[in-house]
Amino acid sequence: MSFQATGVNMRNVLFGAGQRPLRRQLAITLSIIFGISILVSMLLFNLLFGVQARNLIDQRSQFFMDAMLAVRSYTSKSVNPIIAPLNEGPGVFRPEAVPSYSAQTVFAGLKAKPEYQNYSYREAALNPTNLRDKADSFETSIINQFRDDSSLKVVSGDRSTPLGSVHFVARPIKVGKESCLTCHSTPERAPASQLRAYGDTSGFGWSLNEIVGTQIVTVPQQAVLEAKDRSLAATAVLLAVIFVVVAVITNLVLGQLILRPMRKISLKADEASVTPATVTFEERNRSDEIGRLAKSFERMKQSLAISMQMLKDRQGR
Ligand code: HEC
Repeated sequence: MSFQATGVNMRNVLFGAGQRPLRRQLAITLSIIFGISILVSMLLFNLLFGVQARNLIDQRSQFFMDAMLAVRSYTSKSVNPIIAPLNEGPGVFRPEAVPSYSAQTVFAGLKAKPEYQNYSYREAALNPTNLRDKADSFETSIINQFRDDSSLKVVSGDRSTPLGSVHFVARPIKVGKESCLTCHSTPERAPASQLRAYGDTSGFGWSLNEIVGTQIVTVPQQAVLEAKDRSLAATAVLLAVIFVVVAVITNLVLGQLILRPMRKISLKADEASVTPATVTFEERNRSDEIGRLAKSFERMKQSLAISMQMLKDRQGR
């Protein structure tokens, strides 16, 4: 019983059933359905676009890191063997032989373009040869994570910087080859040209298999997140346009299918209440609900005509 009562209340509140013109009842119902649908869709789209933005940022970071690794490997394999002998000689040190130098120089070329301005690539070390590569406190904490857990191959995450929110990916740099120690173990072993260029106080004392630093790329997130918000806004506008189109079409259909024939039947019923003999409900030939309504009126009209005739006959007697 109480269910029935609330059912009726709900209907009145939600759809204005029976309280307003049909058009308005339909408009209210559609607005509520579309409102809820758009809200739920936007929540889901927000999640979906968020995941896509995340993937895009991950892909960019991965590509960036791989490109830098490729530069490093090209330098060690192809460039270093040619230049290393020159560094042994009395001339000036040629840093082009050093993978770290070439990767950072290639990156500097990229960064000169405005679209890469907020990207960064660092080869940070606790005890660097080039003091520019000295790890800051954030990089130091990452290097220490790699030093504490040798199975850890990648650390990644988001952080906010003065340039906005960035995604970073870091990999450990390990002294993997004995050849590294030529330049990074003791000043005595290092080429004299290197000492002249970098001094003999920093970048030494590394040992084989030690993790001495981290390669770290950072990719700005703002542009991707802004693009995501724009897609979300465009989707909302699109859904709203679809809503308006569907609402207009539904309204036209309602008018054509129900309201117009109903109005006609209602006018004829008024007429029939006075002069039943002159009225015909043509709609009774339809096989839908309107047809059924017209048939009912037709039967009522005939009964009325008979009653009126009987009344007349009685008065005539
Ligand atoms: C010919 C000497 C030489 C060899 C061999 C060499 N390095 Fe270096 N390394 C340098 C110099 C010089 C720099 C500084 C380059 C610059 O100015 O960017 C450097 C820089 C680095 C850096 C960046 C941090 C810093 O110290 O400035 C890392 C990391 C590094 N080297 C690791 C290695 C590893 C790992 C190997 C072995 C695979 C290696 N190096 C072999 C000379 C060398």
